[in-house]
This record gives sequence, structure tokens and C-alpha cells, in this order.
Amino acid sequence: MTIATAIAHPNIALCKYWGKRDRALNLPATPSLSLTLAPYATRTTVNWGAEADEAWLNGKLLDGKEARRVFMNLDLLDPWRPRCVVTSENNFPTAAGLASSSSGFAALVLAASAASGRQRSIEELAVFARRGSGSATRSLYGGWVEWPMGTRADGTDSHGIPLAPQDHWDVRMLVAVLVSGPKGTSSTDGMVHTQQTSPYFPVWTECAPRDVVEARAAVKSRDLEALGAIVERSAMRMHASMMAADPPLCYWRSGTLAAIEAVKSLRASGVGAWYTMDAGPNVKVLTAAADAEKVRAALAAVADRVELLAPGGPARVE
Ligand code: DP6
Repeated sequence: MTIATAIAHPNIALCKYWGKRDRALNLPATPSLSLTLAPYATRTTVNWGAEADEAWLNGKLLDGKEARRVFMNLDLLDPWRPRCVVTSENNFPTAAGLASSSSGFAALVLAASAASGRQRSIEELAVFARRGSGSATRSLYGGWVEWPMGTRADGTDSHGIPLAPQDHWDVRMLVAVLVSGPKGTSSTDGMVHTQQTSPYFPVWTECAPRDVVEARAAVKSRDLEALGAIVERSAMRMHASMMAADPPLCYWRSGTLAAIEAVKSLRASGVGAWYTMDAGPNVKVLTAAADAEKVRAALAAVADRVELLAPGGPARVE
């Protein structure tokens, strides 16, 4: 096959990846745990054997750093590859802290590998996806996924690992969209800056592994209250580490705090809901399927738009 298309869903980390133990191999300084979410998706077609390297995202030709990131990833898959045309579409806002790079690089490696005609294991693909963007290693799998730091120097044991499938637990993730433009500081730059300048960074990396151990148990036993508490604490500790950087890094906007307050009021009124934020101002809220409408109504009072997401399946070739 010389043309192939793949679809991948983004994931939201419930326990966060923030920091790198090896920049060249893109190995994480923390383990993480995520939920893959539909109907958000990236659909990517790779034409393996074209006149020139070209990468298109949502109808726009990528250049500079963005294009280099795509083609460097294809070079890893095959250093002797032919020139390729990559066409990618997201059905959700790109680069607004909504994890578009997670679905992007998962769909890219899967489509490129199918187009090249070379069989690869899902673990190998998950390592290639990690090199493109760390969080992408989790988006090759559906449902609940862990990404361990790994111990090998070459990073071959640091990739997404499925924890429980999409249908394991009927939860919802609501996204309070506060700002949908591209973000100011990329997650890559933000985490490197935090690691280099924040006195809180070592404490963050020290606490993170325990969060993953406890979150894994909460997912397995479907204990939403236990999981929710870990989700909030992981997000707040990650953001605290970057706010203590020099100069400080804060992705929040006033609407972020308004959404956090809305979630706390919901909980005070007996609705189980827990917030998390990534490298952007938007707030994502974890809740049970049965409470999703109540959460949506509360967030609608403080957000421009509210999106409702549910556990999604693994990345797949079309
Ligand atoms: C806050 O995976 O985008 O969303 O590996 O440098 O591409 P790179 O970073 P990326 O970082 C994601 C950071 C996060 C937390 C998470 O998804 O675990």
C-alpha cells in the first residue's frame, strides 16, 4: 500500500506527564494515566511516495518547526523513506490545550506505517508516536491507558499500555471551552522551562508516581470519587510546578477559575464532578454518564461552549 488513512482520538491525562527525563528520545520525567476520548478525532492520510514532502493540517500547509516535527517522525519510521504528503484534519480546535498533538501523532504513525507496507507491532508504533509527541503514545489505545517512564536508556519500554478498554466504565469528560485560539507556550517549551527553572519541579516528579498507582486502582474498581480526587491533585500539582517557574508560567485565564468554582459548587450540591487542566486555559470535567447533563448546564454558565466527550476506541486504519 502506498496511501493509507488512520483515525485516532485524543486523550486527556488524568495523571499528568510534565517534564522529560531525556529530551532527544522524548522520555517522560513522570508516569501518566489517561482516558482516550470520542467523538474528537484526527484523520490523517499519508501518501508514501510523492514528489515533495508536504504536510497539511486543516487545509493549511505546515512550514518551519511544525513541518519538521512531522517529517522527523517519518524519518524515524524509515530513514530511507521516499518523499511523503501528509494530510490531516481535526474535528476539534487545534492547539488549545485539547490534546490535538496526541491524536495527531498517533494517527500519523499508524497511517505512515500502513502506507509504507511494513508490519510493525503496536508497541513499536507507540514508541514512534512518543517520539513525535509524548501524549500520542497513549492515543494508540482506546479507553484507559498508562504510560510508564520506563527504565531502559533507549526508551523502548516507555510507551502507552492499555489499562482497561473503552467500555470498562461509562464516564464522561466535559470540556469547558474558554478560549479556542492557539496557545502561547507549547507544552514542550512549557515543560522544559518548568524543569529548568522551577524549584517545585523535583517535588512534582516525586509525587507523580503515587498518583498513577492510586489512579490505576480507582479505575480498576470504578471508584469515581477516589479517581476524581487524584485527577484534581495531579492537575493542580502540575500547574503549581509551572507557576513557580522563573519567569512563572500560567496557562489559566479568569474563566479557568470560574469553571473550577462551578465544579466545586456542583460537588457541594451532591453532583460528582472533578476538574483538570492541561497546557491551556480550558477546563475538562470528569463525571458519571448519569450526571453529564447537570455538569453541562453548570459549565454553560461560565464557558463559551461546552463539549461532551465519552471514552473512545483505539486508533485504527480506515
Ligand atoms: C499537559 O505530549 O504535548 O497535556 O511530548 O513535548 O509533545 P511533547 O508534549 P505533549 O504534552 C502533554 C502535556 C499535558 C499532560 C499530558 O497529556 O499528560
